[in-house]
Amino acid sequence: MNDHQLKELLNEMTLEEKTGQLMQLATPFFKGASDSGQITGPMQDMGINDKDIINAGSVLGASGAKEIKNIQKKYLESSRLNIPLLFMSDIVHGFKTIFPVPLAIGCSWDMELAEKSAEIAAKEAAVSGVHVSFAPMVDLSRDPRWGRVMESTGEDVFLNSTFARAFVRGFQGNLESDKYKVASCVKHFAAYGAPEGGRDYNTVDMSEWMLRESYLPAYKAALDEGCEMVMTAFNILNGIPSTGNKALMRDLLRKEWGFDGVLISDWGAVKELLPHGVAANEKEAAEQALKAGVDIEMMTSCYVNHLSELIEEGKITEDLLDEAVLRILTLKKKLGLFENPHRFANEEEEKEFILSSEHRAAARELASKSIVLLKNEKVLPLKKEKIALVGPFSMSTDILGPWSWAGAPEDTITLDQGMKNYVADLLTADGCDIETGSEKTLQEAVEKAKQADKIVVALGERSDMSGEAGSRADIRIPEVQVDLLKKIKELGKPVVAVLFNGRPLDIKEVMEHADAVVEAWYPGTEGGHALADILFGKVNPSAKLSMSFPYSVGQVPVYYNHYNTGRPKDAPDAQVRYVSQYLDAPNEALLPFGYGLSYSTFAYSTLEISAETMTKDEPLIISIEVKNTSGTAGEEIVQLYVRDLIGQVVRPLKELKDFQKIHLEAGETQQVNFTITEEQLRYIHPDMEYKSDAGEFEVFVGGNSQDVQSKRFTLID
Ligand code: GLC
Repeated sequence: MNDHQLKELLNEMTLEEKTGQLMQLATPFFKGASDSGQITGPMQDMGINDKDIINAGSVLGASGAKEIKNIQKKYLESSRLNIPLLFMSDIVHGFKTIFPVPLAIGCSWDMELAEKSAEIAAKEAAVSGVHVSFAPMVDLSRDPRWGRVMESTGEDVFLNSTFARAFVRGFQGNLESDKYKVASCVKHFAAYGAPEGGRDYNTVDMSEWMLRESYLPAYKAALDEGCEMVMTAFNILNGIPSTGNKALMRDLLRKEWGFDGVLISDWGAVKELLPHGVAANEKEAAEQALKAGVDIEMMTSCYVNHLSELIEEGKITEDLLDEAVLRILTLKKKLGLFENPHRFANEEEEKEFILSSEHRAAARELASKSIVLLKNEKVLPLKKEKIALVGPFSMSTDILGPWSWAGAPEDTITLDQGMKNYVADLLTADGCDIETGSEKTLQEAVEKAKQADKIVVALGERSDMSGEAGSRADIRIPEVQVDLLKKIKELGKPVVAVLFNGRPLDIKEVMEHADAVVEAWYPGTEGGHALADILFGKVNPSAKLSMSFPYSVGQVPVYYNHYNTGRPKDAPDAQVRYVSQYLDAPNEALLPFGYGLSYSTFAYSTLEISAETMTKDEPLIISIEVKNTSGTAGEEIVQLYVRDLIGQVVRPLKELKDFQKIHLEAGETQQVNFTITEEQLRYIHPDMEYKSDAGEFEVFVGGNSQDVQSKRFTLID
């Protein structure tokens, strides 16, 4: 099928067939689906009939080669023009082999492993019949009250953009020539990660400067990497819901950025223009969303019920509809569906690829690179000693995290299973549940702990306390768990806390009462193996936080690349009171962006720069020596930050511009070199131009965003 044939196909389509292509429904609506059942209710609610379903363009949430081939086959039997269905699903951090949640992957700073995780997810999904994955999610996340921070790679524009590219490469590769790839869909456009109060779906309101400086770059990076689709966000942006926001989508995304791929609404977001209060009825919602540029309406029927009427009334042109239909047909063409509607769906390969030992090994490796060592008072690594493992996550399979619907608990390696590979006589006890407990269960745990030399306490939040609609106003670990930790600590033995959570939590008490603290996030299918490898020292932790841990929820949002204000608290001439500060808390996060410990220790030599000035033709070389001052080989993520001392708008105190993960044998020293170019010094000006200014800068290098060495230099025209 070539472009000319696509246009001919479009010309043969009736109005109903065209509007049908714009509708995406879940599997129960389709014949051949295993859950195809009594949907007369939903169909009536949506005002649709069998004919609408025969014209539908895509399916949400299907999986399984046999199932998807069945649905496709039955659908094509009734399709007048033989236009195949698109199958789209949420494969965010793995399909059946679940990788750590993206926020954990963000702490790996490892683009190769991130790309590989997406590649494996795509392969398992493709042989299961899936064509498109609703990923990567690249919403900048600075507010841990928001449940979906687990789905992002964190608070930094540059790091998020770098991961966005890696995920698109992994999922999509070269869609038309590579095997086992799926189209990727960057989401949620735009700035869904900045809801007021951290409350999901809530109001987002920010200046165009902040939007372009911090929130848009990662979406743009995904599209520059070739991402085929964009998904709209639920939130309003500057007064208009994203899904009906013409300025955001038709003007910025399509005209300014030149995106001509498929734009899909989030679930029900077209119809949500009604509760948002910008559309009086579904017909108005259909008009606004199509004019804004939305091609596919997910799970509601405003388009299929009203677009024909709107065209007849002259409120929208058929050309506008044709544009949307052509983009959808073009995606189907790119996926080769006209030639082979089943694409890579293959029951045999499903059995061969899914949860293969190679995939499990990749999940185990990435998980071990995503686990962050936050504290270690010479307690870790554990030896083959008498160990007790207590806490509600000791034997829990709830370590896959949100968006792991295709993953199975029975395939998951729990923490106790992983640890028993090292110490067969591991003592275990839950001690309490996530939010409740009893004196009895507490005592059982204490009794086990009394028999041990060291105790590991596995704490955290249930995965349904995180993720979509999982906002929390109190981001502490439930009290019953902290009480368990304190009780165990009273025994006077070394205590290691392992945390399972989908967001930075307020962990002051955990940091106070545990001798070592390990942030596991939701580590995925191989979580137990990866954690045991870290706890027993087979793998030396190297991960660094990609999102700050607040001292308290009252600080939120707290992030490293903030602005100085006119009354910085730490200015040399700062007043005692009238400065930007809290009366009852520090300004700084408890644990900063870029922070993470190792079993090794590293010393940084004096920072050197190749010259005091640079131009756009003469970049600057920054070098520093890093020494492993311990007896253990390890990896260190050396980070480079820059500050623009004077701008036409305020400039962050630090901005991550580059990083290198290096391996150092015990006692080894390595020189690390970075290049700073003029492009890296550009920023959004008041006139929204992205450019640099001549002037003075400061460069910082270190193992996190706080402990750094710095030098100044000047950019000259
Ligand atoms: C959800 C999510 C979105 C997901 C979609 C389909 O509401 O917001 O990320 O891709 O629905 O499941």
